[in-house]
Amino acid sequence: MSRENWSKDSWQSYPALQQAEWPDQQAYQKILQQITALPPLVFAGEIRKLKALLADAAQGKAFLLQGGDCAEEFSECTAPTIRETMKVILQMAVVLTYAGEKPVIKMGRIAGQYAKPRSKPTEIQNGIELPSFRGDMVNAADFSSKARTPDCQRLLTSYFHSAASLNILRAFTRGGYASLEKVHAWNKEFVKQSAEGKSYETLANDIEKALTFMKVIGFDPQSVPQLSEAYFYTSHEALLLGYEEALTRQDSLTGMWYDCSAHMVWIGDRTRQLNGAHIEYLRGVHNPIGMKIGPEHDIDEIKQIMEVLNPENEWGRMVIITRFGKDKVAQYLPELLKNFKQEGFNVLWSCDPMHGNTYTSESNYKTRNFKDIHSEIRSFFQIHHAEGTVPGGVHFELTGKDVTECVGGGQDIMDHHLENNYATSCDPRLNAQQSLDLAFLIAEMLKN
Ligand code: PEP
Ligand code: CO
Repeated sequence: MSRENWSKDSWQSYPALQQAEWPDQQAYQKILQQITALPPLVFAGEIRKLKALLADAAQGKAFLLQGGDCAEEFSECTAPTIRETMKVILQMAVVLTYAGEKPVIKMGRIAGQYAKPRSKPTEIQNGIELPSFRGDMVNAADFSSKARTPDCQRLLTSYFHSAASLNILRAFTRGGYASLEKVHAWNKEFVKQSAEGKSYETLANDIEKALTFMKVIGFDPQSVPQLSEAYFYTSHEALLLGYEEALTRQDSLTGMWYDCSAHMVWIGDRTRQLNGAHIEYLRGVHNPIGMKIGPEHDIDEIKQIMEVLNPENEWGRMVIITRFGKDKVAQYLPELLKNFKQEGFNVLWSCDPMHGNTYTSESNYKTRNFKDIHSEIRSFFQIHHAEGTVPGGVHFELTGKDVTECVGGGQDIMDHHLENNYATSCDPRLNAQQSLDLAFLIAEMLKN
């Protein structure tokens, strides 16, 4: 099929996997019209700014930290939940910035991460078969026919929840809440409170010294925007193409099209078929595009996708998010890097150490082990160093809450603790402390 002519709806003539089956097509079209008429959630100018930062990260001059829920929930769209997620990402970022001596791009899986791809279209419980839960943007998690029937009203609800989340994120980051001093104070608290945190004392003290020095020479942290404010970018998987199309807008300055549902969107491991609708849609919008790559990939297809998504080989356009699992990363990543080097593809390499390390615990919870997550990141860094490529970012499923969904970390969460506060509606997330533990461990890798 020809890839010449793109329009925001040209994806509709390609096969689209993982879409919802809306029972009422007329109602669905009406909802999409409503969303099309609503304001964009982000601006093209912000997207371009992010792309420039990602171009830096791809070349080793910045680092990408992306994290948030596997699946956001409408009921969790509250100021405290959003604040805590943002807080832990900012805390991690300060540690990484200091250790890596370069800017850290802070990006949430937030303000739009409401739709999920599923490995099976239906779920069977006690002999009853119902459609799978596909995220709050599509249906509800309860196991009843009513809850699992896709409801297109949820698309509009997702838009408004995304808008509310973005609004509070902008207020937090510009209103002084995200100042460097504040974030550092939280980190000091973490170091003081946890036994495990003690081993990070040196790094925290170094940051303290740097801050004191700045004050002594006359910087007032509150009056310098770089110190008193933060930029926080949003991202989600571009899964439901009707929704993404409705938020696709033409920039009045440049005439270019952008997916204004988020600053960056990514394409999942399950929906990146060369001749599929997702690739067709994404090739025409000028956002930075994430692409997940797992062990099942076909290298020739990946190369062709790269040509389609980034024909000009623009820096900052492509973020390749590898998710092989700790045992397979050594088998697949070097080959992938070699191929990309050979083709001369300009990309930012990021590591998702979550999705290849999921297993079911003896207590029957879907979980991930902190050690495995750490191990995949370590291999990611080592392999990039060996190949002479840049390990430019990390991608986590995390929450600012004190959940017990992943085992291990400083709190030594064990199998039998998982039931204490297992709250995710999809994949297991790192809790606030596990996330910070990891940030300090990655800081070590960035220093070396
Ligand atoms: C995800 O990031 O939530 C996800 C589904 O990942 P992947 O496409 O890599 O499986
Ligand atoms: Co997930």
